[in-house]
Formats: sequence, C-alpha cells, structure tokens
Amino acid sequence: MRHLIDPLDFTRQETDRLLGLGEKILESPQKYAHRCDGKILGTLFFEPSTRTRLSFESAMLRLGGQVLGFSDAGSSSATKGESVADTIRMVSGYADIAAMRHFKEGAPFVASQYSRIPVINAGDGGHQHPTQTLTDLFTIRRRRGKVDGVTIGLCGDLKFGRTVHSLIKSLVRYENVRFYFISPEELRVPSYILKEVVMPSGHQWEEVRAMEDVMPELDILYMTRVQRERFFNEEDYVRLKDSYILTKDKLRAAKKDLSILHPLPRVNEIAPEVDGDPRAVYFEQARGGVFVRMALILTLLGLEKGILSGEGA
Ligand code: NCD
Repeated sequence: MRHLIDPLDFTRQETDRLLGLGEKILESPQKYAHRCDGKILGTLFFEPSTRTRLSFESAMLRLGGQVLGFSDAGSSSATKGESVADTIRMVSGYADIAAMRHFKEGAPFVASQYSRIPVINAGDGGHQHPTQTLTDLFTIRRRRGKVDGVTIGLCGDLKFGRTVHSLIKSLVRYENVRFYFISPEELRVPSYILKEVVMPSGHQWEEVRAMEDVMPELDILYMTRVQRERFFNEEDYVRLKDSYILTKDKLRAAKKDLSILHPLPRVNEIAPEVDGDPRAVYFEQARGGVFVRMALILTLLGLEKGILSGEGA
C-alpha cells in the first residue's frame, strides 16, 4: 500500500502524472463527482489548520465521499495519552484513507507503519508538508507551463517552514532550477537540507538577506510566515516576525510575469495592497489545493490507474 509521507515517496514521473490528473479534474469536475461514493476520509488534525483540512474535506466531498475526524487534538483521545499507532489502527477500521497533521516530526510516518489504510502527511511539525508541495507545483505548472528552468526565491522562515523544506526536495528533481534563499541569518534553510538535498543536486543556489537584491531575476517568489509556534522564545519571534514585508513598491523591480506564491496563512509578510496585482496568485494557489488533493485521494485509493508506476492505465 502506498502512503504520502515525504514528497519523495512519489517519483518525479508519478508526481507529474498526479498533477496532470489534477488538471483534468479542474477542467471537468463533474466527471469525478461520484468516483468516491461510499468512501470515507479520516482527517486527524492534532495541530491547527484551515486550508489543508478544509481542502482535504472539500476534495473528498467533491468526489462523492464522506469525511470524519477531528480538528483539534484537545477533542481526541490524544489528551488521554493515546499513541498515534493506536489511533491509526482504530481509524483504519472507520475510514478508507486518512490525512494526518501532527506537531511532532515523524508522527504521520509512524502512523503509516501501523495503518491498514493509506496515510497522507498533512504537515508534521517543522519537517515536511508534501500535499502543499503538490499544490505549489500545480500552481507553478499552471502559471509557467512547466517547472523546469524556474528561478525561485524562497523568502522568510526557511528554518521552520515545512512547506519550504518539501518544496525544495521536490524542485531539485526538475531541470535548471535556480534557488535564492532569502532569510535572516537565524531563519536560514537547515544545513541538512543544504548538504543532503541542494548541494548534491548541482542546481545553482545562493543565500541572500534582502529580497530587493534578487527581485528582478525571479520567476516565482515564495513568501512564508515566520512560524511563531516553533520558536523557543517570544522575543526572538517578535524580533524576526517582520523581517520581510512585500509591498507594491518592492514589486516595481520584478518581472511582469512573476508569480507570488504563499502557502498561507499570511500574517504581515504580504501587504494587502499586493492582493490586486495580477502577479499575486496565492488565493488561486489555495484553490488548486482541492484539485491536487482530489487527484491524490483517487490515486492512493487505487481508483485512478496509471498514475503510480507499475499500475496499468
Ligand atoms: C502551512 C503549514 O501549515 O505549514 N499552511 C498550510 O498548510 N497551507 C504554512 C504555515 O502555516 O505557515
């Protein structure tokens, strides 16, 4: 049985085919409206979420399936000390597929080891967020027609931002990607990602402090929120939270066909005045998350053949 815990659990080809299926669903959603009739998605959210949980739920409902779950660890038996292993063993009998978000790195992986149903990592601590990456790749493809050749600036909290970690892991598998990592010293990309993922890829990369320095070169500007909940003390957060604020003025130097992405929620890092700019695509990006999650659910439930390698069309 296949799960999606890490973005590399799918090969580049499988990922591309899945994104292609997302496109097909976007074009003709009615064709897929009953594909999951009788199926149940379990949403096990031990950490807050708006987009990820609602887009998973929307995806399953739009496929004709149903949803059960919790959106707050406080209302689950985790407060009584139940382990993730026990929770998923039980949910395996209640649902056909599960999406899990957890504050502990590795929790969805542990769940997948004990599960009898496919498990999707909907974000684990400061580690990975593979379905956000599918959403990001989907958006980049729709905007540019392809991912290859992209120059991307990832800006903000590159240390704790799990969406950044997963996106980097996936992007290195494409051709001629150029990375600018824009962050304060304290929020740099973790060295294990630089050493194990970025450097061996052979792609060009550079760490910079000011977004203005690289703005004219970017095809994609990927803004992120400073991850307050992962800081050890409030003073550090307060000092760093407004390190970057994207304004209309800063965009003057940018390309006309730049795309500004953000996994959302935004706090202060993109001024609302930017929302009206045609280059601001973060709300469109969030909408795309429903189609890629529909594609993912169909794929992992074995209801769409030809996406995973070794499965005939
Ligand atoms: C992100 C997350 O949860 O990591 N949100 C999301 O899923 N779209 C980004 C964030 O919380 O900053």
